[in-house]
This record gives sequence, structure tokens and C-alpha cells, in this order.
Amino acid sequence: MRVLVTGAAGFIGSTTAELLMSQGHEVVALDNLVSGRENNVPQGADFVQGDCGDVVLIRSLGTFDACVHFAALIEPGESMKFPERYFSNNVASTFRMIETLVETGIERFVFSSSCAVYGDQVEMPIDEDRAPRPHSPYGQSKLMVEQGLQWMVELGRLRAASLRYFNAAGGTLAHPERHDPEIHLIPIALDVAVGRRSHLDIFGSDYATPDGTCIRDYIHVSDLAEAHALAITALRQHPGLTVNLGTGVGSSNRQVVEAVKDVTGRDFDVRFVGRRPGDPAAAVAANGRARDLLGWRAQRSDLRSIVDDAWAAFQAMEP
Ligand SMILES: NC(=O)c1ccc[n+]([C@@H]2O[C@H](COP(=O)([O-])OP(=O)(O)OC[C@H]3O[C@@H](n4cnc5c(N)ncnc54)[C@H](O)[C@@H]3O)[C@@H](O)[C@H]2O)c1
Repeated sequence: MRVLVTGAAGFIGSTTAELLMSQGHEVVALDNLVSGRENNVPQGADFVQGDCGDVVLIRSLGTFDACVHFAALIEPGESMKFPERYFSNNVASTFRMIETLVETGIERFVFSSSCAVYGDQVEMPIDEDRAPRPHSPYGQSKLMVEQGLQWMVELGRLRAASLRYFNAAGGTLAHPERHDPEIHLIPIALDVAVGRRSHLDIFGSDYATPDGTCIRDYIHVSDLAEAHALAITALRQHPGLTVNLGTGVGSSNRQVVEAVKDVTGRDFDVRFVGRRPGDPAAAVAANGRARDLLGWRAQRSDLRSIVDDAWAAFQAMEP
């Protein structure tokens, strides 16, 4: 198949592009490098530097059997300051691209959605039927794309899967996790462990969780990549899919810190500071639908494997 992978210079997009190529697909890797790095694009992919909202560019790329759409701005905090950027980049540009792809005959579309669509939920685990309540323009932008896709599916214009990732983590030697600025706990903790940062702030230690810190469902990027390949296949049978990608097991911030200290063999300064507005106490996925509809099962997403792989990838990375 010929597959357009947007955001392919980013963390999850590059890992998935690599997997799709290893399965024999021809990959066109599109990224405007607003936050991605060109050297992250897998060798052998046809790299195009450009914006997914550039319809002239998208039309010039020819026809595709499928698109996997990772390209997005990804920081909920930034989206609270500049919501217009998120609606413009994550929603408007996405639908400009979809319109062009549909004109050129694409049939299958896989979208990077997020557990941010759920907002702050009390009952865990969260299944896909839970009413979404995004707490940030970032989460709202993901929900808006999902809703547009649902209409397109219902009206027979496109086959589409919205994959709601929980916390992507881990990494591979070729594609370590690195965002700029980094907002994710494990890579920040690794930075602290090697002395690139002085200390680690943990936001909130008075949540109603067993150890008082927030709980998240970490999912290895290699498992995420696998789910995208399965979703492309599943769309042959199911015209529309909305699926959580998580393990169903939550890890608290304290547990993550302990795992990082253990794996790296280094102790470091951890400071418990106030809660961050908008952070839910817990976010853990119910993943039965991914198992039943995609035939997906997480293979490397226990916390120890995630931190082991993140540390190996971190050490192999150029500074
Ligand atoms: N990392 C997570 O934990 C997580 C969780 C849930 C959902 N997601 C979603 O997964 C996707 C990938 O996340 P990631 O962690 O790999 O982020 P990332 O920042 O590493 O990758 C995103 C890539 O998209 C590119 N990009 C942004 N806007 C673009 C545009 N208009 N045109 C072309 N390229 C553009 C960036 O340059 C970057 O390379 C995003 O859609 C994100 O919202 C990520």
C-alpha cells in the first residue's frame, strides 16, 4: 500500500512509519518540522517537508491507499494560552488535507486522537462510550476532528479510525522520545537523572489516589505503532472505529520516579509542588475494544520495559 504518514518526523509518527515500511508499505513522510526533526524520519521513506494544510502540496503528492495522521500541536498547556493555534493547526489544516485526500480517492484514514478528549473522569478505567469532556483546546481539537470524521464515515465519504492514545512512552534506539519543549514525565526524569536538569517537579501529592500523585496509563510507542498498522487493516471490515489505546494499568508519578531511579541506578532530587490546573487525578484506559476490533494487545508496555527502553534510547541519542 502507499501510505501518507503526517508528523513522521515526530516521536510516534517516525516509529510508526518505520514499522509500516518494514511491513512492505511505501511511505510518504510529511512533516513541517515545527517540532519534529528531519533525522527522525526513517531511512527509505520519501520525506516531504511541508504543512498538511497546504492543499497544493497535498494534491501534488499523488494518490494514497491510506493516511495515518499524527501531525499536530500537542501541548495542552500551550493550548490554554493560544487556543486559536490549536484549532487552526489541528482542526482546520486537518480538514483541508482530508478534503484533498478524499478528492484524490483515499479510502482509509487513521487519526491520532487522545485520552485528552475525556477530560477529568472519576471512574476508572475509561471506556470509549464515556461522554467526552475535554479540559483544554488541545483535547477539544482532537474531539472536533473525531466528530468531523464520524460524519464523513456516516455519509460514506471515508473509512476512519480515531485512536485515543493514553500516555505514549518508551522509545526505540532509532526514535527516542524527545519533544521540544519536553512535557512528558519519563524523558524529563531521565534528564534529571543525568544532571541535565537540577530536579524533578511532581505536580500534586494530595490527589485521591493511593500515593497521592496522579495516575497515568503508559503505553509503549512500539505497541502504539503496531495498533496503527492493525487499524489500517481493520478499516477494511469496519468503516468507522473509535478505540482507546492503553494498557488498563495505571502507574502513579511516584511509581514512575522509582522506576527511573531503579533503571538508571541514579538517585535525584524530586520536589512535590502544587497541582497543575487541568491535570486529572487518573487516566486509565479500558482496552477491550482495541483487543476485539483491532486484535491488538500491548506487548512491551509494562512500566519496567517502558523505562528500560526509554533509558536505552536516551543514552543512544546525541545530546
Ligand atoms: N505523545 C503522547 O503521549 C500522545 C498522547 C495522545 C495523543 N498524541 C497524539 O499523537 C500525535 C503524535 O504525537 P507525538 O508525541 O509524536 O508528537 P510530536 O510533536 O513528536 O510529533 C508531531 C509532529 O507533527 C509535526 N506537525 C505539527 N503540525 C504539522 C502540520 N500542520 N503539518 C505537518 N506537520 C506538522 C511536528 O513537526 C512533529 O514532527 C499527535 O497528534 C498527538 O496529539 C500523543
